[in-house]
Amino acid sequence: MTLSNVSAKIISDKILGVKNKYEYLFSPSRIQAIKNSKAFGEQMKETIYSIAINKLKLPNETLKDVKNNTGKIVLFNGKKIGVYKDKDGTCFLVKPICTHLKCELQFNSTDKTWDCPCHGSRFSYTGEVINNPAIFNLDTL
Ligand code: FES
Repeated sequence: MTLSNVSAKIISDKILGVKNKYEYLFSPSRIQAIKNSKAFGEQMKETIYSIAINKLKLPNETLKDVKNNTGKIVLFNGKKIGVYKDKDGTCFLVKPICTHLKCELQFNSTDKTWDCPCHGSRFSYTGEVINNPAIFNLDTL
């Protein structure tokens, strides 16, 4: 919301011919891919892994390898699933694919959430959307 207000102010200033000191921060040409090639490469690598490569890899771990009060992606009946085990060992199983644009989710052990590295959607360990852009809950098993 903050960024949309700043963006709107920049656009209205541009229309009125007023110089806005934040204009450069929002300029599409502010990112110098060559100059920032290492950081740019890391971002591209993470995105490519989340969208494609991680989806092709099958985890070595299974449900019994998940300790209580932790979560991870495991192999279950030949499929990848996201599992969180609470402190009593109750399992919460989700399909670990973001409902926004299908990136593979990562378990956030601090907040006990499934987080999407692509655009920041977050889901509770039971699969409910906490943060958009995703608007649909995860499939549960
Ligand atoms: S693919 Fe997950 S937030 Fe966009």
